Amino acid sequence: MTSGRSFYITTPIYYPSDLPHIGHGYTTVAVDTLARWHRQAGDDTWMLTGTDEHGQKMLRAAAANNVTPQEWVDKLVTESWFPLLETLDVANDDFIRTTQPRHEERVQQFVQALFDRGYIYAGEYEALYCVGCEEFKPEAEIVDGTGPFEGLKVCAIHSKPLELLQEKNYFFKLSEFQDRLLELYKTEPDFVRPESARNEVVSFVRSGLKDLSISRSAFDWGITVPWDSSHVIYVWVDALLNYATAVGYGNDPEQFARRWPAFHVVGKDILRFHAVIWPAMLMAAGLDVPRGVFAHGWLLVGGEKMSKSKLTGIAPTEITDVFGSDAYRFYFLSAIAFGQDGSFSWEDLSARYQAELANGFGNLASRSVAMIEKYFDGVVPSAGTYAEGDLAIQKIVADAAAAADAAVERFRIDEAIAAIWTIVDALNGYITENEPWALAKDEANRERLGTVLYTAAEGLRALAVLLSPVMPASTEKLWIALGAAESLGRLVDQPLREAGAWGALRPGSTVSALTPLFPRVEQA
Ligand code: ME8
Ligand code: MG
Repeated sequence: MTSGRSFYITTPIYYPSDLPHIGHGYTTVAVDTLARWHRQAGDDTWMLTGTDEHGQKMLRAAAANNVTPQEWVDKLVTESWFPLLETLDVANDDFIRTTQPRHEERVQQFVQALFDRGYIYAGEYEALYCVGCEEFKPEAEIVDGTGPFEGLKVCAIHSKPLELLQEKNYFFKLSEFQDRLLELYKTEPDFVRPESARNEVVSFVRSGLKDLSISRSAFDWGITVPWDSSHVIYVWVDALLNYATAVGYGNDPEQFARRWPAFHVVGKDILRFHAVIWPAMLMAAGLDVPRGVFAHGWLLVGGEKMSKSKLTGIAPTEITDVFGSDAYRFYFLSAIAFGQDGSFSWEDLSARYQAELANGFGNLASRSVAMIEKYFDGVVPSAGTYAEGDLAIQKIVADAAAAADAAVERFRIDEAIAAIWTIVDALNGYITENEPWALAKDEANRERLGTVLYTAAEGLRALAVLLSPVMPASTEKLWIALGAAESLGRLVDQPLREAGAWGALRPGSTVSALTPLFPRVEQA
């Protein structure tokens, strides 16, 4: 079953000083769904997530809470960030923390290698820094403050005053990579996706690259520069390297060769770091650049980018406590075109839960299983001769499975779900048209009734397999109710790229009672 094709995919590593909100959850479930899809298709899959624990932002938050930065991040990661993965049913293969020795040592090794290769030099620096972004701001993102910040320069993203920093710094010769980067975007048009993100990156690099300050000496919460202990490595250089250190860069060549290069999924806020600085760092070190960077859009709440610092943050548990983790995953991944901004509202979430999950998929599953119990004593009937309408369902299933796999290949999870949903809609229509309850009234229709209910059950088998990366919990429940676990084995082992082949579900399997997959919710 293993095709041997390596598929390594990452989320950003999040700053633990913010509590997890639905934006972090969005990226994480998207990456988990892509990883589950590839894993179930037999690709040699690895999913990484983690936390970004150094830098001035973290240091200040710890100081404000009267604890050491290490105590501060330990507490947050344990109490808030590990639980997020449980809450959202995420099956990551690894979790990296930038304060782990496996990371810190390899970062020093990497930076030393760049220094030895002549890509790092010492210089003087004076510029406006945003601690929220952990970045020296380019002109275009510096604006005049208003209200309490009247007369000050503020960050366009955080609306908070910028700090003028004057330091001796070490610089990375980013400017030397302009041509090679432009060449990369040209020869690999899919390196940055979607198209809008690619265009933004290309025009940014075309307008000229400045060398990058990669060390700080004003504080010490970071990884020490190996040849100058009065400096720590700039937090973004430290953070980007997680993708390499987690898979054995510098200490496990076999693992590194097996996994690297990665696909990175990020929010568009941190696109440039991933699509410009990171590949340049890798080029300088003589390593392969990533396989691609996909930038998704922002979740908007009340028309604004949702963020904890602007107090529009919604905790993922607020949603999963009411609707469950599958509904969370389904909602964000299906309702928003992956790559574009999307507005979150409780009304939209409730409406889609009711229409698509409860009445659409859930009801299809419940009534199909119930009819097999009622008319065939719970034993999946065999199909007789297929008629045109039955064959049409088989074609829809085959087409949907192929279209979904092609969409996942393009990272368009939303389009994959839309393709799979054609099966839900077609089967609901099929049952309404064929009226099994009417067929059941006349013994002469016994074979026809068997064909119709086998078609429904086999369609559900395909749906369980195809939707399992998106909704692992409810599809598992359905799988067991269909009696498929006994005859076909574990759901997660069903080869995804063969999901559309008709006839896998064995007649004679015994179904069992199915409690509603998506129960009615009590609205607060
Ligand atoms: O930037 N909509 O960490 P971070 C959609 N540590 N996604 C959102 C979102 C929103 N409103 N808000 C946050 C950092 N995200 C660095 C990354 S990687 C080497 C270092 C998601 O905690 C989205 O994925 O600020 C965004 O890119 C990420 O959280 C930023 O997380
Ligand atoms: Mg941020």
